[in-house]
Amino acid sequence: MALIKLDDLTVRYTQGRFNKKVIYALKGVDLEINSGETVSVIGESGAGKTTLARVLVALEKPTGGTYLYKDKDVWKDKGARKEVRREVQYIYQDPISALNPSKTIRESISYPVKKHLKLKGDELYGKVVELVKAVGLDPSLVDRYPNQLSGGQLQRVNIARAISVNPKVLIADEPVTMLDASYRVGIIDLLVKLKKEMDMTLVLITHDLAIAKYLNYKSEGVKGVVIYGGRVVEEGKIDDIIQNPLHPYSKFLVGSYIDINYEAAEAEDRGVQEPKEAVIPNQGCPFSVKCPYAVDKCKKGFPNYTVNRDRKVACYLYG
Ligand SMILES: Nc1ncnc2c1ncn2[C@@H]1O[C@H](COP(=O)(O)OP(=O)(O)OP(=O)(O)O)[C@@H](O)[C@H]1O
Ligand code: SF4
Ligand SMILES: [Mg+2]
Repeated sequence: MALIKLDDLTVRYTQGRFNKKVIYALKGVDLEINSGETVSVIGESGAGKTTLARVLVALEKPTGGTYLYKDKDVWKDKGARKEVRREVQYIYQDPISALNPSKTIRESISYPVKKHLKLKGDELYGKVVELVKAVGLDPSLVDRYPNQLSGGQLQRVNIARAISVNPKVLIADEPVTMLDASYRVGIIDLLVKLKKEMDMTLVLITHDLAIAKYLNYKSEGVKGVVIYGGRVVEEGKIDDIIQNPLHPYSKFLVGSYIDINYEAAEAEDRGVQEPKEAVIPNQGCPFSVKCPYAVDKCKKGFPNYTVNRDRKVACYLYG
């Protein structure tokens, strides 16, 4: 049994009072996450990454489909929803706005500990110090305010808050995007270390393939989930996706990653071009406006998934 199972999950927004515009932040998402797994969700801005994170922590109610947590329907079973809100913790992209500026670090970390573990007095302070040390911070920082800490230190405080309730799953939504490059590796290392020590499931969401690759280097066997326009377009071992991307959007992602890193000259030979700026169509394959391989049927319906061993891809070029 998968720990988390999303089935045909959709999150649909409407904008505007009269000429209503429909936006699918997520559409028909099927995803299974097993206990202890490390998953990297990759996609560009607007792909639906944060919406997916909010769904997973039960902050966002899907407009269609189901979210099963330990086989229980999160939006039909209040107990399951409560379980998700304690056991599935969210680490936000922006470490500053995730913390109350008028509260000290000690107060911010104490809040979830008091609420969920019902500790107080010396026991509470002891737990705060233990958490602060676990995320690699000096306990002398606990009486500071958020504006007195660096971005990297603040993200560690947020991680301390997230692990304070002994979660089963950590959802880290672009946890290093807003940090200086020098802090990024340290935060990923910390998440991997805590995942192992606390026997958690880790879902790391990123727009940056280099981060997914680093995560894989540190943890091995990472599952990659590539999303585009609210759809899962490819899923498999991240190693396999990087070495042999199947979906045209994954090819673009991998191509541009190599382009800026070490094989610039080869990028052109791979047929990698900067996709044209385009809206995501609500019908058909979301990549159809930009895809160099698009044919008529791509604009009409979303392709079925082709599954080959442990790789899944949604594209008419396969199957
Ligand atoms: N509350 C909302 N109302 C209307 N549209 C929304 C809402 N929240 C998200 N969207 C839209 O849904 C789509 C997915 O948004 P989401 O924030 O999940 O993307 P993302 O992949 O996290 O992007 P980024 O990398 O910029 O954080 C976008 O087109 C966004 O504009
Ligand atoms: S389904 Fe069609 S448009 Fe979509 S990625 Fe495949 S070839 Fe391109
Ligand atoms: Mg986001």
